[in-house]
Amino acid sequence: MSDPYSYEEPPVAQDASALMIRAVPRISLQAFCETAQMIEAVQEAAADRRMAKAHVKAFPGGLAGAIDFFESAPTPNVILLETRMAGEQLLAGLDELAGHCDPGTKVVIIGHTNDVWLYRELLRRGISDYVAMPVDAMDVVRVISDLYADETAAPLGRAIAFVSARGGVGSSTIAHNVAWSMSTTFDAATVLADFDLPFGTANLDFNQDPAQGIGDAISQPDRLDDTFLDRILAKCTDKLSLLAAPATLDKPLDLHADDFEKLYEVMRKNVPLAIYDLPHQWSGWMRRALIEVDEIVLVAAPDLACLRNAKNLFDAIRQSRPNDAPPRLVLNQVGLPKRPELDPADFRAALGADPIAVIPFDAELFGSASNGGQMIAEIAPRHEIVSQFDVIAQVTSGRGGVPRRAKKSALIPFLDKLKLSKG
Ligand SMILES: Nc1ncnc2c1ncn2[C@@H]1O[C@H](COP(=O)(O)OP(=O)(O)O)[C@@H](O)[C@H]1O
Ligand SMILES: [Mg+2]
Repeated sequence: MSDPYSYEEPPVAQDASALMIRAVPRISLQAFCETAQMIEAVQEAAADRRMAKAHVKAFPGGLAGAIDFFESAPTPNVILLETRMAGEQLLAGLDELAGHCDPGTKVVIIGHTNDVWLYRELLRRGISDYVAMPVDAMDVVRVISDLYADETAAPLGRAIAFVSARGGVGSSTIAHNVAWSMSTTFDAATVLADFDLPFGTANLDFNQDPAQGIGDAISQPDRLDDTFLDRILAKCTDKLSLLAAPATLDKPLDLHADDFEKLYEVMRKNVPLAIYDLPHQWSGWMRRALIEVDEIVLVAAPDLACLRNAKNLFDAIRQSRPNDAPPRLVLNQVGLPKRPELDPADFRAALGADPIAVIPFDAELFGSASNGGQMIAEIAPRHEIVSQFDVIAQVTSGRGGVPRRAKKSALIPFLDKLKLSKG
């Protein structure tokens, strides 16, 4: 029988370049293709989360089709043209198309020849970009995203969401400790945002009582910019800030799917590493949040309810993020005395993924930390659980290399012990 506690190296961000493509703004795009392969690439690109705001249509017909179409129709923000034409024939065709184009329309050519002279000539005539086949869906997303890179020129922050397979499995606790790990291990400003507006515990865990927080970010989206964000953040350390939840029940909360839209935008532009501590629920804004972020950590305890919910969440997330790494599974509260538990192997069989961390149940350690408003690393810096938070930080931040504190084999001694205690 295979060893249920065998540990495989955590997969580091699979396609880091794909993950760092900026979301495309609310534009219209029409593609005129010559090959079925290109139509498919455009349709797949349109389904990518980074194109969620763009309005995309793909047609056959290539350059001739486009000329025909735009004779009687207004041009969109972007025309994507696949063509086998080259040289003077292509230039003449484009001149004709230009006659029907609105001045603001950007034209991108997907060509079948790799020709530097042609490339230069096209750019000189105002074509936005020329890319040679073969072109896949992510190439399309990248090229369109690049067209708008100037408008969102600030550096692009990375967002990591923590969700739970059921309430109380420790997703918030792990999110807070991983935020701490990131802020101490990597030399980058980190913001922990508590999205559990009525019940969030981030302020308790960090022993903070800020007057403002995430509630202000969504009640005044028009005012939200870098200065305003700075004002509503509570500084925990030099590198770590908290966007706290109001944690009050004075009015019922029915959030809309796009209530956090401005916050995402401002965070992306101003915060290198953002941790989104999401509550256990399934709503329009939750689904939107799970499309917005670069990485998702799914925390589960080793029980049947978590296994079923984790499977459903995995499936839903994989479907809405086909071009991204699947969620990272973390098993928490493992080894609670006398409790019958599922194995990591059961999760592997159901989800097709290994946990990137398996964290033991430790009532004393977690209880002291949470009652004292401290992180585990503050009260027990050398504890093996701390190195697991470091592993999660490393995998999800996409920052290469092993974090300072974490040893590569950090999990192995713990897993050995766990095996022994299981008998
Ligand atoms: N590994 C663990 N061992 C013991 N207690 C834990 C562990 N992880 C979390 N806890 C405790 O479980 C409780 C619920 O944690 P929380 O992070 O609020 O869960 P969630 O956000 O998933 O609802 C907290 O009291 C926390 O201290
Ligand atoms: Mg929580």
